[in-house]
Amino acid sequence: MRFTLAAVSGAALTGAIVVPGGLLPATLQEQTPLSGPRLAHHIDPDDDAYWGPGLPAKDAVASSLGKTADRLAAAVDKALEVVEDARHVLADKLAHAMDGNGYQKHPSLTIYELIKHSEHTTKFAEIVDEHPGIVKLLNSTGTNYTLFAPTNEAFKDLPHGGEGKPGKHFVEAVLKYHIGLGEYPAWRILSTHTVPTALDERLLDGEPQRLRTSIGLGGVTVNFYSKVVAANFEATNGIVHGVNNILIPPPMAGRLISLFPSQFSTLLLAYEMTDFAKYMHSVKLVGGTVFAPTNNAFASLGLKANAFLFNTKAGRKYLAALLKYHISPNATLYSDAYYDNTRSGSDPEEDGLNTAHYNLPTLLDEARVRVTIVNWGPVSTIEVNGYSHVTVRDGLAKNGVIQAVDGVLIPSFKHSDPKKPDDTKGIEIEDLMERLAPYV
Ligand SMILES: *[C@@H]1O[C@H](CO)[C@@H](O)[C@H](O)[C@H]1NC(C)=O
Ligand SMILES: *[C@@H]1O[C@H](CO)[C@@H](O)[C@H](O)[C@H]1NC(C)=O
Ligand SMILES: *[C@@H]1O[C@H](CO)[C@@H](O)[C@H](O)[C@H]1NC(C)=O
Repeated sequence: MRFTLAAVSGAALTGAIVVPGGLLPATLQEQTPLSGPRLAHHIDPDDDAYWGPGLPAKDAVASSLGKTADRLAAAVDKALEVVEDARHVLADKLAHAMDGNGYQKHPSLTIYELIKHSEHTTKFAEIVDEHPGIVKLLNSTGTNYTLFAPTNEAFKDLPHGGEGKPGKHFVEAVLKYHIGLGEYPAWRILSTHTVPTALDERLLDGEPQRLRTSIGLGGVTVNFYSKVVAANFEATNGIVHGVNNILIPPPMAGRLISLFPSQFSTLLLAYEMTDFAKYMHSVKLVGGTVFAPTNNAFASLGLKANAFLFNTKAGRKYLAALLKYHISPNATLYSDAYYDNTRSGSDPEEDGLNTAHYNLPTLLDEARVRVTIVNWGPVSTIEVNGYSHVTVRDGLAKNGVIQAVDGVLIPSFKHSDPKKPDDTKGIEIEDLMERLAPYV
């Protein structure tokens, strides 16, 4: 069912919000079967009450979202292949894109004046003008910002007319989410994975919500779906990059996972079978990291272990324990930033310039996960417990971050190193039970 929106500039922003969770490109909007009241629910920025799976895996929407997830995964794989040398090529490409767009540099103007001045950002500037606080922010010279300004192009597919204008509060949050804290010219973005924004997130204890940047041969992409189409416009108080899609603050972690059944249908099934959403609603969290095993990760446990976990009554309890082990409460670990709200406050161990080790708590009492992050320019590798790898990094959520992993994490025996399940045979049920026994 298609619905319409008021043809006012504020409402224009909702066009990209129509998708549940809002992390998807505008082209998928029309396939989203949300009605007006549900939409209102979906875009309520204060809506915290969501964890569990949302979309049934078999409907058309879910499958098109699944395809998007596949493309995202492929794009991420590509990004990982970018080697040091290629960075220069990319920098050239960016510089080129910047020259060829008919933009002009105005180093004597503020960011606010720059977007008012440019014929490519008139629609965005119009919305900014309705929010004096944002005008002030972008025109103040006390602090430097990086604005990811949606070009007029970004507004072109938005539906017009009708009801459903989002609240001012929400639009303001969206605007703030386009404003990076500090100066991130293109060269710096090349070695950045996430950028803090002016949007303070209550669910992250007031820390800045972040944008995810990635680099592929097509240039820089923000949050998987918005491309930097023109880079490096200098202002007196920072930098402006033009992007071709509106950036929407991320949804709750549970909802985000439910958008990608082609990667996570087994995990979603596990959540459902263990009534995990209900459990999560009872846990008090200030941010967190969800290590989300992909379908392949579950498959590599082997048939026997999966049959035990999913098809037996006894296995259900072990499955619940396993799921808890994949969540680090109050520890929001991005590939290049860490919001630590655990009271244990253990600092990461630095290991040379590029490597850091973290020892994170989990929802499984004292069982911890060990994370090693190696950052090298645009490339980052994240290893968990020594045998599982993050395949899609930094899935931003309102209440934390999702790191997709290619192996199911299993707590080790006390005092012994975590062991990788045998690749060919999976894990023995006895082994699985023994390792989870203290937590069941
Ligand atoms: C923006 O700042 C400039 C000086 O930095 C000032 O001249 C101008 O009036 C300000 N504009 C607004 C709308 O506040
Ligand atoms: C903002 O950036 C400019 C140019 O890089 C620099 O000279 C200035 O000191 C910065 N201002 C602040 C407040 O950081
Ligand atoms: C997370 O932090 C909050 C605030 O400090 C605390 O109340 C809560 O118990 C913590 N949650 C867990 C699971 O440690």
